[in-house]
Amino acid sequence: MKVKVTKNDLQRVSADLLVLPFGSSELKKDAGTALAEIGFDVQVLKDFKADAGEIVLLYGGKTEYSAERIALLGIGEGKTIDDWRKAAVSFASRAVDLKVEKVAVDCSCLEALAAATGQSVATLVAALVEGCFTGSYRFDFLKSGKLDKKSGGEKSKGISELLIRVDSGVYDEAEKGAADGKIIGSCQKMARDMVNLPGNHLRAGDIAKAAEDSGKKYGYEVTVFYKKEIESLGMGGLLAVNKGSHQPPTFTVLDYKPKGKVNAVIALVGKGVTFDSGGISLKPSENMGEMKSDMSGAASVLGAVEAVARLGLPLHVIGLMPATDNMPGSTAQQPGDVITTYSGITVEVGNTDAEGRLILADALSYAKEKYNPDVIVDVATLTGACIVALGYGVAGLFCNNDKLAEEIYQAGQQSGEMVWRMPLWDLYGEQIKSDVADVSNTGGRGAGSVTAAKFLEKFIDGHKNWAHIDIAGPSFTPKGSGKVNGGTGFGVGLLVELLRKWS
Ligand code: BES
Ligand code: MN
Ligand code: ZN
Repeated sequence: MKVKVTKNDLQRVSADLLVLPFGSSELKKDAGTALAEIGFDVQVLKDFKADAGEIVLLYGGKTEYSAERIALLGIGEGKTIDDWRKAAVSFASRAVDLKVEKVAVDCSCLEALAAATGQSVATLVAALVEGCFTGSYRFDFLKSGKLDKKSGGEKSKGISELLIRVDSGVYDEAEKGAADGKIIGSCQKMARDMVNLPGNHLRAGDIAKAAEDSGKKYGYEVTVFYKKEIESLGMGGLLAVNKGSHQPPTFTVLDYKPKGKVNAVIALVGKGVTFDSGGISLKPSENMGEMKSDMSGAASVLGAVEAVARLGLPLHVIGLMPATDNMPGSTAQQPGDVITTYSGITVEVGNTDAEGRLILADALSYAKEKYNPDVIVDVATLTGACIVALGYGVAGLFCNNDKLAEEIYQAGQQSGEMVWRMPLWDLYGEQIKSDVADVSNTGGRGAGSVTAAKFLEKFIDGHKNWAHIDIAGPSFTPKGSGKVNGGTGFGVGLLVELLRKWS
């Protein structure tokens, strides 16, 4: 998607779709005149209420506009960045459905919108561009088109060009926002593609490969540990989960250092289970295919590190991505096994389906030991229990530092990738005591997402600034929920927002 900012009038622009945003409050005063000016009947306003994301398409008109069609776009009351983002997602999605490629948006409203929302013009433009990436996203590169050449068989081309019209006073700021939005939007897209790729198309080795490609392209260091090195490092958690698989595990380290000063050292850890069958503690077969998304944490970490590198933030950011699938098989680990993790801590594997915490255990200990970072954040599709607690829209936040928790909460509110804090009280630790090992990987029926977090906490070696974000719900939109199904890229926007605040 090419993104261009212009100060020119849109009358003469040859776009397939020209988008005119309206807030519900200006609708009454301004929209009638605007419509009359471009030669449309004000009767349209009977049906258009300007709710955020609402669209009315207009064709023809007796106007000078050379765009093929005009969309009236609702931005709600125009008071929140969420409504603005929602509106962008909506018109971009419609553009793709209409198979139009060149879209122009009249953003003459930006200054007023900035005042009303308390956001900068750059932020609003970035949100618009990100929203365009989100809304125009389709996952169709595994469709051959052989069976339905005529109908929807062709692959979506997406929006090829987005033209944003702004007043000259905010042009520079808008350009900056557009550039940032493009970076974040394309990193989110990369993460979504990875999440949507099924287990037979994305193995542990492919995660490593994607990381190496990104590192080469955007100038940061990537180191991959393959099975031999993982064995010599003694990453017993990752190896135990991998035991039932024919595919070797990988452990990928992303290392971005800025050219100039370093404000902080941050470690991001992402769960990279390319497919989670549950292992010997096999999952029920219904919807098991959705477990191709169990590497969403790793995808968000890669997306976030790539974005940070492209934005050139003054932070040293290390991304760690332990990756494997979790398969049953004659060599698989068995319930009741006791394993030794990288840290030396022994774990009784009560349930082989609680595999994420085993691979994260190694990665967290490694991050702390090797880098002693100022902050450690892990992101993982860790528990079904977190979905029960918070649903599909919100991630669970577990944090041993109130200031960090507040910062992550605020980054969630700003990015639209929301988190809600859950407790880490010691009483929950009782549930993961083991008779035979240092700790058990299962904690019984109650508070499953909390006991999982309590388990992870054992492996940070007393680090005072750690957060665990359980994205099991928001990482993947199940079939039939109305929006585009599948991977969401959740976490990229949240982490980048958080890291920018520290820049
Ligand atoms: N990957 C799953 C968690 C999950 C479930 C993510 C649904 C997304 C949607 C994780 O590995 C898992 O299986 N967790 C178990 C833990 C239990 C065995 C202690 C769970 O949540 O049931
Ligand atoms: Mn599992
Ligand atoms: Zn899992």
